[in-house]
Amino acid sequence: MARLRLGILISGRGSNMRALIDACSKGLIDADIRLVLSNESSAEGLAHARSSGVTTSTVSHRDFADRAAFDAALHRELKRAGVDFVCLAGFMRLLTPGFIDKWRDRMINIHPSLLPAFPGLHTHRRALAAGVKLSGCTVHFVRAETDTGPIIAQAAVPVLPDDNEENLAARVLIAEHRLYPLALRLIAQGRVHMEGERAVIRAPYPASAALLNPPD
Ligand code: GRF
Repeated sequence: MARLRLGILISGRGSNMRALIDACSKGLIDADIRLVLSNESSAEGLAHARSSGVTTSTVSHRDFADRAAFDAALHRELKRAGVDFVCLAGFMRLLTPGFIDKWRDRMINIHPSLLPAFPGLHTHRRALAAGVKLSGCTVHFVRAETDTGPIIAQAAVPVLPDDNEENLAARVLIAEHRLYPLALRLIAQGRVHMEGERAVIRAPYPASAALLNPPD
């Protein structure tokens, strides 16, 4: 499988982007990060990417009349940088079906819940309100509807009785920083293939025990 040429799309803090950059620079993922692109010039993650020697650029959605024009500019910028695989990492713009189609099975996202539960915004607030005992995060290929698409990998974390949005988000984020590099590594190794609309991971696949919360 050809070495991935990555574009990472961010809008803010960029801690997941950082986890991907770190894993690539340690050689854990066989991929070149060609570009970190943000729709916000003030995104914290941009400075970190630059300090790691990664090329960055900003395409502001405010400079375009509609989503389609913005997405066309994103696409041009990614192509110009030679990107052939896109990682969304806290990118806060809805993408048009046309753009998503162009990157079908070449674009992944991380979402802080066990999808298909709690897609969209205010994920942790809704998980707490529902009283779930496990939450977590999901890496998936991107499809037209927000936070849907074939699931590549998930991590579960317990929801504890005294949790609020903030500490649940922090616990899930720790799992995100492990899960996103892991999922990308599987893709870079050519171990993820599609069976219809399911992403299947080739062996060797570690069998692990179920996580029970509360423990018995
Ligand atoms: C993460 O929780 C990610 O799952 C969600 O947005 C947040 C981005 O955080 N899509 P960061 O910018 O990666 O720190």
